[in-house]
Amino acid sequence: MSAPAMTTGASRQVVLGRHEELKIRQRMVIEVEGVGIGVYFIGEEVRAYLNICPHMGGPVCQGKIMPRTLEQVADSGKSLGLGFSKDQMHIVCPWHGFEFDMLTGRHPIDKSVGLTPIPVEVSNGEVVLTVGETRP
Ligand code: FES
Repeated sequence: MSAPAMTTGASRQVVLGRHEELKIRQRMVIEVEGVGIGVYFIGEEVRAYLNICPHMGGPVCQGKIMPRTLEQVADSGKSLGLGFSKDQMHIVCPWHGFEFDMLTGRHPIDKSVGLTPIPVEVSNGEVVLTVGETRP
C-alpha cells in the first residue's frame, strides 16, 4: 500500500485513509520506507506496531488474530476446560506462536515482553501514523 505522507520536523505523518472505511478490516500491514507496520482496528480504537516479533524477529503482524484462550474455573477451583475471552483479542506470531494483546501489544503473561508501538491516531476522521521516531 502506498500512502500520502507529510513531513513534520524529525518525524513524518502518514495518512492511511478514512477511519470509517479502514476499521472494518480489523488489520492492515503496510510498509513505510522499508519498515513493516501492522495497524489494528479494535472497535473505535486504533493501534500500530512494528512488524518485528520481539522473540526472533518474525513477521508478527501477519499472524492470526484470535481471542485470548482462558481456562474456565468453577467456584470449587476445578478446571472446566479452556474457553475464549469475549473481549481480549490476540495477535499470534506465525513463526513460534507467541501471543500479544492487540490493544496493548504486551505478552499476556510476561508484561516485560511486547511489540514496538508506532504512534497512530484518528484525526479529523483520518487514520494518521507518525513514523521516524521508532525505527528498528
Ligand atoms: S519470532 Fe515470533 S514467536 Fe518466535
